[in-house]
Amino acid sequence: MAAGLRFDGRVVLVTGAGGGLGRAYALAFAERGASVVVNDLGGDFKGYGKSSSAADKVVNEIRAKGGKAVPNYDSVEDGEKLVKTALEAFGRIDIVINNAGILRDRSFVRISNEDWDIIHRIHLRGSFLVTRAAWDHMKNQKFGRIIMTSSAAGIYGNFGQANYSAAKLGLLGLSNTIAIEGRKYNIHCNTIAPTAGSRLTQTVMPQDLIDAFKPEYVAPLVVWLCHESCAENGSLFEVGAGWIGKLRWERSLGAIVRGKNQPMTPEAVRDNWEKVCDFDNASKPRSIQESISVLNDALSQIESQGNVSMNSTSSGSVVSSSASIVGRELATNVYKYTHLEPILYALGVGMSTKDPDHLKFLFEGSEEFCCLPSFGVIPAQTSMFDGVPSIPGLNIDLAKMLHGEQYLELYKPLPTSVNTYCGKDLVCYNQFSLFFVGAGGFGGKRTSEKAKIPGNPPKRPPDAVISDVTTADQAALYRLSGDWNPLHVDPSFAALGGFKKPILHGLCSFGFAARNVLKQFANNDVNRFKAIKVRFAKPVYPGQTLQTEMWKEGNRIHFQTKVKETGEVAIAGGYVDIVPALDKPSAREPPKTAGLQSDLVFEEIGRRVKAIGNELVKKVNAIFQWDITKDGKTAMQWTIDLKNGSGAVYQGPARGSADTTFILSDEDFMDVVLQKINPQKAFFSGKLKVKGNIMLSQKLEMILKDYAKL
Ligand code: NAI
Repeated sequence: MAAGLRFDGRVVLVTGAGGGLGRAYALAFAERGASVVVNDLGGDFKGYGKSSSAADKVVNEIRAKGGKAVPNYDSVEDGEKLVKTALEAFGRIDIVINNAGILRDRSFVRISNEDWDIIHRIHLRGSFLVTRAAWDHMKNQKFGRIIMTSSAAGIYGNFGQANYSAAKLGLLGLSNTIAIEGRKYNIHCNTIAPTAGSRLTQTVMPQDLIDAFKPEYVAPLVVWLCHESCAENGSLFEVGAGWIGKLRWERSLGAIVRGKNQPMTPEAVRDNWEKVCDFDNASKPRSIQESISVLNDALSQIESQGNVSMNSTSSGSVVSSSASIVGRELATNVYKYTHLEPILYALGVGMSTKDPDHLKFLFEGSEEFCCLPSFGVIPAQTSMFDGVPSIPGLNIDLAKMLHGEQYLELYKPLPTSVNTYCGKDLVCYNQFSLFFVGAGGFGGKRTSEKAKIPGNPPKRPPDAVISDVTTADQAALYRLSGDWNPLHVDPSFAALGGFKKPILHGLCSFGFAARNVLKQFANNDVNRFKAIKVRFAKPVYPGQTLQTEMWKEGNRIHFQTKVKETGEVAIAGGYVDIVPALDKPSAREPPKTAGLQSDLVFEEIGRRVKAIGNELVKKVNAIFQWDITKDGKTAMQWTIDLKNGSGAVYQGPARGSADTTFILSDEDFMDVVLQKINPQKAFFSGKLKVKGNIMLSQKLEMILKDYAKL
């Protein structure tokens, strides 16, 4: 009995095992401890007749050597019966070798309907029926190995074998899809195209080749592919004479043959024919997704450029020239958000209502409702992830795009909702470093003087460590904040990128780390968060535990994030720059003035309205009056006219009539402006009274929060 790869306890069904290749497989598996069902109909090589002797002979051979085997004499067209024999004799089915076959060779035009049909019935349909009968058993036991037997005649074509070629390559298509459907149940399916001396090849091969190409030189590949330790799935191999090679598809870069808004013509196809058929820099698509992605690239190239040759640019890995890409500006992107996005983001980076500290990031009604500083990457990522792939001349494979580093600097706390970007008012600055694995061909400078450099942590134990267990759905939740790369949710897409399963977004781990530093060293005060830099060193899988280790060095908090389960550093060289608590007066402290504090706010609103009144009038179309009280008496009236001309802010009651009048004290007004209390709450608690069109009061929030800009 052979040692090494063992099959003890496994049950193998080999179809057509009464002779030739099938016999060699049956003997090889039995020798390694498997229980074997030796199936063979026992007819002649054209499929006429039947007999039990072929299967019996091989069963006897196996038993004589001390192996376990039972015969089955049914045709593979009775797939269920074959599997039933395995279950009755051995109680399970682990491995199916679809091998049975016959020939009805004829030149194409002479193929009868019967010769066409029987070849398809035995080879293609027979393999389908046997495999289907075994499938649920394999699925339930979470193990299965299947072999389909194709042929060089199918791969390359062979005179006189049109029926056989068609059926044999049909088996490859069947195998490709079964491999995908079975993967999650640990059912693997591979295809072989063997060459061996047998009765099928006797008529076409000279005797010395028949003797040289022994079936025993094919069997070891089949045995290995079916071992539980073999991860190969969905592959095709040619095998014979002791040689084995793997096949894959190669696709030329092709050419775009139509221009934007132009009809596509056969003449354009003819004129580009050389490019269409040019295999220089060819790609090797491994999945239907990879295959189709080129069409999306083509569409966006046509949209952005008109008529561009794919050949010069689009390999999924080649940059046309660094000069055409470096310094290219991305299109301006307008990002609008309400309180929903910051809350969704906070949930995505692991905040929870279980922690009372987190409520101010999760509940828009919280008096201190605020936005996590690291949310600042979200508006920018839309530009990056939508914009970068569509840069003409840069052809990238999203499955291979890795986020290398991130730098974020905040110029002011992020608002909890932004209805309109306000002119040139810069809120934050982002730097993304992206790697395109294996892309090559860039040829440009590898660094930029603008790049922020990560900082190494001090060589002492961390001052603080916080652990967060991510959930299995962490990436699925985080992606709702706008990073839709399927790498983070689709297992097959992740496999293309070489990952064993979808990975967590680097920016999600980044968000965990950022909020931990904010809590640990800035008391969750978003006003004190100035900048953050990270380098993404290793992927994190959802469900793993993130361990943020932090060191305080003056106003810089160094940190790194480890995956607790593996000890690997996922985020390296990270730092957060914080503003010292006392050096900067909190933005929540109202400025002290001799008169009413609200006057300053209205004056500021007045300046803003001068700058962007036109825009506001279009959006708001209403006149608001404020009666500001002091010690219970009206101390000042202000009107904001966002209805007429390009708007105006003035002291005194509305000229004409106000759509809405707000009555509140100077102090309460400031509390609303400074977001210590939200307007709804002020209204329900009686601090704010509203006359006129109360619905318009919702716009109060926009005006006060976004345009006061204190
Ligand atoms: P073979 O003729 O020695 O073996 C095929 C076996 O299948 C025979 O024992 C036959 O009785 C059995 N069989 C036929 N119809 C059946 C049915 N309906 N149900 C159950 N058993 C049935 O031929 P060989 O060469 O061993 O072929 C094995 C497989 O390898 C075939 O699928 C063949 O097409 C394929 N192949 C072989 C090549 C070679 O060079 N020998 C080349 C390419 C493919």
